[in-house]
Amino acid sequence: MVSVIKLLGVERSATTYCQWLIVNNFDNVIVTVAALGGKHYMLPDYFHTIDWVDGTAPPQKELVDKVISGLKQEIGKNWSARHGIPWDCTPKRAKSCAHTSTHAEKHVKKALEMSSIKFVLCTKNPYSWFLSSLRRFKPKNKKHSRERLIRERVGGWVRRNKKWLEFYEKNEQVSFIFKYEDVLANHTKILTQLEQKLKLTKIDENYKDVAKYFLSSGKLTAKRFDRTYYTKQKFMGELSQKDIKIFEDVLPKDLMDKLGYEIYQESEVAKRPAQKQIVVAETNEITKATKSWEERLKEIRNHLKNDKVSNFKQWGVIKQTMLVSEAKYNDFFQILEEHVKWPSYKQIIEFGAGFGCLCKMIFENGFGGTYYTFDFPELLQLQKHYLEGLNVKFTNNFHELPTIQDDSLFISVNALEEAPQNVSKRMFEYIMDCRDFIFKFCAGSRQFSNFSNSVDREWISIKNFANRAHILIGKRK
Ligand SMILES: C[S@@+](CC[C@H](N)C(=O)[O-])C[C@H]1O[C@@H](n2cnc3c(N)ncnc32)[C@H](O)[C@@H]1O
Repeated sequence: MVSVIKLLGVERSATTYCQWLIVNNFDNVIVTVAALGGKHYMLPDYFHTIDWVDGTAPPQKELVDKVISGLKQEIGKNWSARHGIPWDCTPKRAKSCAHTSTHAEKHVKKALEMSSIKFVLCTKNPYSWFLSSLRRFKPKNKKHSRERLIRERVGGWVRRNKKWLEFYEKNEQVSFIFKYEDVLANHTKILTQLEQKLKLTKIDENYKDVAKYFLSSGKLTAKRFDRTYYTKQKFMGELSQKDIKIFEDVLPKDLMDKLGYEIYQESEVAKRPAQKQIVVAETNEITKATKSWEERLKEIRNHLKNDKVSNFKQWGVIKQTMLVSEAKYNDFFQILEEHVKWPSYKQIIEFGAGFGCLCKMIFENGFGGTYYTFDFPELLQLQKHYLEGLNVKFTNNFHELPTIQDDSLFISVNALEEAPQNVSKRMFEYIMDCRDFIFKFCAGSRQFSNFSNSVDREWISIKNFANRAHILIGKRK
């Protein structure tokens, strides 16, 4: 018997993490995330007319048909089916192997006809949820006060959780509340409760956790992750006394009690330790750089249309943004060679490799592993030409980057500081576990020193290298 689970939760409430935990730990389970109404939205009306606990008052045939025809369009896109996925499916692989199954449709239809759908409501402490929502969704209107942001966003969190909780209370026997902090503290305990309550079949004796595969953006990664930020409420260090007062006003006590969350008092804030965050460069610095790249990419596309790629060193846009003569890299390369041994790495990841000059020099000097470059597609075209025949994988997609290993080196030479904040932040989170790092950047770009202050390596700092450049080399101790 296949269990069909409808997942619910506000954005940034770890719904994707919950989904992966379920599909990686239970057999014969389908988790719908957009089917049957999007996971972040209120439940469609018909859900309230059906008795999901004892299966009475099943929906009319027309309704089932209508829902199923909507589902057909989503197959392959929006839902995950454990059923039919190889059982060793890890989150990374699951992305490609999950959810194409047409028998998912059959099972959802049957579950609808038998009113046997089960529900999981994902929720996260509204205080940390708000901070996470701010990091992920920048305020559209910069003039909105912090107070307004808290009132609007946390107000939305309250409205949706309240509605879902009402549904949960009516259908308690077939529903489960998945609290992010509780899962981080003890995933085995929570998955055991889930198994028993929703009568699921576990795959393995021990439950696998998949937290380490997740970034704050909900995407998969191999990031090192500080659970105590959530489980020991370190996030409270990021909230002011004034914030706490506003939260107190917005959060209803009964909802918070039912979900098992505390409403903090102003005096609480001072007691919580502040969490060290990786701070990236100021937004206006980045916006300027991003704008310039939009223009430059237009020029590169024009050249690519009208000229041979092999002529790229003549193009103004390339000459203005990077050194086109290999000889000019020599001094920099010599410094690097004093500190790093290329053959000792199995994997090098470079952000913004330009046309690939440094990459080629590294291969010519003994590197024998796989090199990944992450760049705009237009630049990747130049790199593919210049680096032809070398073991290089080119990408503009985070999902195609490899899992960081013990012998990984990360390089950014006058590049990462030019990316928008969401990209640089994500890249910094992704690379955190690399063995070594090479950064070169314009003096004044603070994001690299912030990173080196929070990542424990032996950091070699070379200032005022050729025209105020700063080189930072980080090596595992
Ligand atoms: C100033 S060039 C430096 C190139 C090369 N590292 C060098 O030193 O010659 C900046 C590099 O970062 C890349 N870059 C800038 N913003 C980026 C973004 N948002 N995503 C991907 N690549 C980006 C550019 O395409 C370019 O390859």
